[in-house]
Amino acid sequence: MQKQLPGLIDVHVHLREPGATHKEDFYTGSRAAVKGGVTFMLDMPNNATPTISIERLDEKVALSKKALIDIGFHFGTNGKNLEELPKAAARSEVYGLKIYCNHTTGEMLIEDQNALDAIFQAWPVGKPILVHAEGEQLKQSIARAMKFGQRLHVCHITQATEVEDVRQAKAGGLSITAGVCPHHLALTGEARERMKGYAVMKPPLGTDADQAALWAGLADGTIDVVETDHAPHSREEKEKDPPAFGVTGLETSFSIIYKGVQEGKLTEERMLEAMYTLPKKIFNIPEQPDTYIEVDMDASWTVGEHGYETKANSSPFEGLVLPGVVTKVVLRGKELMNNGTIIS
Ligand code: DOR
Ligand code: ZN
Repeated sequence: MQKQLPGLIDVHVHLREPGATHKEDFYTGSRAAVKGGVTFMLDMPNNATPTISIERLDEKVALSKKALIDIGFHFGTNGKNLEELPKAAARSEVYGLKIYCNHTTGEMLIEDQNALDAIFQAWPVGKPILVHAEGEQLKQSIARAMKFGQRLHVCHITQATEVEDVRQAKAGGLSITAGVCPHHLALTGEARERMKGYAVMKPPLGTDADQAALWAGLADGTIDVVETDHAPHSREEKEKDPPAFGVTGLETSFSIIYKGVQEGKLTEERMLEAMYTLPKKIFNIPEQPDTYIEVDMDASWTVGEHGYETKANSSPFEGLVLPGVVTKVVLRGKELMNNGTIIS
């Protein structure tokens, strides 16, 4: 059965330009998005030269023009660019402020509690603050969002205890949302043995209990959105010791979640909420008129069988047979993909 769906939205991708275009660039990243049925995505600021000034933002906006789909940006902070934050928040291309409370790719870790307070104070209330916060850092971020009256989006929630923290914060009336990645839903730490570097990312894969809590949280709405954290690295970088953090996700996201629907883990309605309606609402993403995708819901495909669109040329799901094939993508009346072929 061929089904028409809205163009999907991914609020968390790393397109690597400028600075690491051997991993990805706006063009190849957008081809990966089209293959996965995504027509709007939000790019993260942890580039080699991080997006922490208006100058860097302008550069990225210009470079992103070669993308096939619409791209917005999350601004970054190193704790020393406070005067840039209101200027960035006022820009239509900026959808949120990303804060790294934990170590990962890039040099944007902020652990000093006073510095974090200053950032929460400097960011104008309105657009969300996104945190990469694991365990205790999440509890601190929730307290801080309450204190400064900020909207908080918890990126790539991973642990069962974190799902519970978000559930309680929501019950307490905080304006908090959370995202979950397909890889945390589909894999557990057990995969590291088998997949080596291709199972390494931040936050790391969890336990069976974590995974069950993530599906339950996504199903009951505690977790609002699916976000890929598409984090391309070259095969060489994934196979070295230690491997680079991050896995690709744009091309497989829909199919991984749809597999969950087929397995009864969540409804198709929740899937569309998590991949379109809520990302749009939470980040105030503009309407894309005359934009839709078509998916063959009965067809299946083998990941990697015909290569990849992402320059990273890998997937943690390589070889897996997944349901749901995106056959057509139309953006503002223009065909970007037809019969499974990308038109560029
Ligand atoms: O695994 C990850 N990779 N997690 C992050 O938070 C960053 C990302 C990257 O940029 O490589
Ligand atoms: Zn990320």
